Amino acid sequence: MRRIAVLTSGGDAPGMNAAIRAVVRTGIEKGWDVFGIRHGYAGLIAGNFVSLGARDVGGIIQQGGTMLGSARCPEFKTEGGRLKALRTLHQRDIEALVVIGGNGSQIGAYALSQMDFPVIGVASTIDNDLYGTEISIGVDTALDVALEAIDRLKVTASSHQRAFLVEVMGRNCGYLALMAGVAGGAEAIIIPEVETDPEAVAAELCAAYERGKPHALVVVAEGARYNAAGLARYFQKHRERLGFELRVTTLGHVQRGGAPGAFDRLLASRLGAAAIEHLARGEHGVLMGLLKGEIVATPLAEVVANQKPLDLRLLELARVLAK
Ligand code: ADP
Ligand code: F6P
Repeated sequence: MRRIAVLTSGGDAPGMNAAIRAVVRTGIEKGWDVFGIRHGYAGLIAGNFVSLGARDVGGIIQQGGTMLGSARCPEFKTEGGRLKALRTLHQRDIEALVVIGGNGSQIGAYALSQMDFPVIGVASTIDNDLYGTEISIGVDTALDVALEAIDRLKVTASSHQRAFLVEVMGRNCGYLALMAGVAGGAEAIIIPEVETDPEAVAAELCAAYERGKPHALVVVAEGARYNAAGLARYFQKHRERLGFELRVTTLGHVQRGGAPGAFDRLLASRLGAAAIEHLARGEHGVLMGLLKGEIVATPLAEVVANQKPLDLRLLELARVLAK
């Protein structure tokens, strides 16, 4: 292996830069030429390559986002788009590609590997919905950002004896909401994986006041059937009967832009370096992830065929601890 390329794809995640740095410097250590591809699969199709030396990835380990840029690229979902991508890789004599990204990005990585091109994935998405890793790069930092907001909302909620609702990201996965709810001490948690009746949420909040709590907090995942907009509408419509208002905060992209914390920097450094070690052994078509504290390679075929389970026992833990 002499010439490899790396790209970041999908939603950016804190720690992507640390992963790029690890890929580049471990690759250079092996004596390889490493190229960065700008703006994910869109840059791959367009041939937007840049040579990366050790100094080019200096000073980025502590920065959020991705120095290479990221993109959603619908064209890569088509066979024509992937054939163009393959052509640019062959034209530049690239022998392997490292894809740093989430669920959709790894489906793309698998599709490329099915075209006989050596690809290796690095698990990175704040959604934590990727099979083959217990935690992806960016999740820990995104959770910290959500928690900081939740803690602040609780302060003002307590001063005014109010009910607050916070919507967190996660696409169709409730992981961020569940963890932010447990760690933030929420009175109710709403996730896509569990059907929730708004009346039951209202009852939870009333019960919290009756127990003498100065505030009531709901954490909702953006992908839930009743997300922030849906619940706000419902509570507004039934305001008279329910007897209280719900103040709504949607955190949105603020969760993605944080500077990576220690956990994400370490995870990204380990996964990026492990991707290169695997390529050096001639292994590819796998996703590098963290399972039981160890860096593990899971075949991309398995990653794309499976849904990552969510530990719903934490909902019960949250209920008990909110007493
Ligand atoms: P993430 O990787 O964060 O989950 P997306 O789901 O938007 O983000 O996927 C990122 C990119 O991966 C997409 O814009 C597309 O280029 C590629 N991708 C997603 N799904 C597929 C697919 N089914 N086949 C090929 N490429 C895909
Ligand atoms: O996949 C990461 C994520 O932040 C999801 O949580 C969210 O649904 C989505 O990306 C938002 O995408 P965009 O940045 O394209 O609006």
